[in-house]
Amino acid sequence: MAADFLPINDWDHIEFYVSNARQASYFYSHAFGMEIAAYAGLETGVLDRTSYLLRSGDIKFVVTAPMHAEGPISDFVRKHGDGVKDIALEVDDAAKAYHETVKRGAEGVLEPTKIEDPHGNGYIVRSTIKTYGDVVHSFIERHNYHGPFLPGFTKPARIMGPRPTFTGLQRIDHIVGNVELGKMNYWVKWYEDVMGFALSDHFDDEHIKTEYAALMSKVMQSGNGYIKFPINEPAAGKKKSQIDEYLFYNNGPGAQHIALRTDDIVATVSQMQAQGVQFLPAVTRYYTDLEDQLHELAREGRGTMGPLGQPIKGQAYVDKIPELGLLAQLGILVDGDDEGYLLQIFTRIVEDRPTLFFEVIQRQGARGFGTGTFKALFEALEREKDARVQPAALQGAVETVPAE
Ligand SMILES: [Fe+2]
Repeated sequence: MAADFLPINDWDHIEFYVSNARQASYFYSHAFGMEIAAYAGLETGVLDRTSYLLRSGDIKFVVTAPMHAEGPISDFVRKHGDGVKDIALEVDDAAKAYHETVKRGAEGVLEPTKIEDPHGNGYIVRSTIKTYGDVVHSFIERHNYHGPFLPGFTKPARIMGPRPTFTGLQRIDHIVGNVELGKMNYWVKWYEDVMGFALSDHFDDEHIKTEYAALMSKVMQSGNGYIKFPINEPAAGKKKSQIDEYLFYNNGPGAQHIALRTDDIVATVSQMQAQGVQFLPAVTRYYTDLEDQLHELAREGRGTMGPLGQPIKGQAYVDKIPELGLLAQLGILVDGDDEGYLLQIFTRIVEDRPTLFFEVIQRQGARGFGTGTFKALFEALEREKDARVQPAALQGAVETVPAE
């Protein structure tokens, strides 16, 4: 068990750098059903950027656009397109978080800084370290702040269009990073050494592959289990995978997807679909295989995965199987472990570049990442990728890298 020298209370927020924050906020608000809860820009005394805070349950996204051609936000967007810049974490002591992580090898970006709110709502302490690619982790200490989000933000004067319909998205479950071939173990060790995280799950290329492409993944988790960071790298295969494609268009490592938790995935996905979010289509074969597996579990008296109800066992389970039809219709995947089951679906990519997408997940006891669903999701992403023209850089096989 790693020493908890970096106690993290929870996710604080995710900041995206985008080229047009007004339009990006409209998308997350109206498609994902998030409320625009705070704003910072020229009207609130901020000169170099415009930011909108979007909230749904405990989830906080910030979309930030640059006001000028020069500067870090413009540089990020030019290189990566719209994407995740800051995976910010809430801590009790941002100075200690910075010093403990830098001492263990983190590269500092912002030393602990007290930031006063110009609108009289107190102050925060913020510090920031680098992680993979151009992504950073900010540590936010907010017990002396009582405003709408962060210093400089105010409640928005007006909402753009009708108030969005809440879709049931409740909290961030995990955020996945894509790193280069041969770099997964480097970042696994980095999260162990620098942040005190522990390995909670891993998938190798034997589990997650198609006939042509494969990936490897390890899941790093904070001491309290609230923060989960799976790290993916491409694996050797006859063709380059979606991970290679991501790394090409993102110009290096970055956040691949953000998983958002709901208590009712059928309602959430139905509502998001109605609001224009596209999800990866289902494969009929997956549900046929799954039905066989569930029957087998039921026969063994181990049917702990109830797709739409509480975990149930034995014959009662077989009676529930018809509900799979509803999941199949929406393309929701189901998997289980010893503790329960989980339901998952991926959106299509939400950018022009084939980079970032989202996941909607419902956990009924299961805390892990099902191997069956992971494989099916990987296959679905590969099918999407195969529908896109591949530039010369993405042609050819992925060679094995020698172990370091
Ligand atoms: Fe995921």
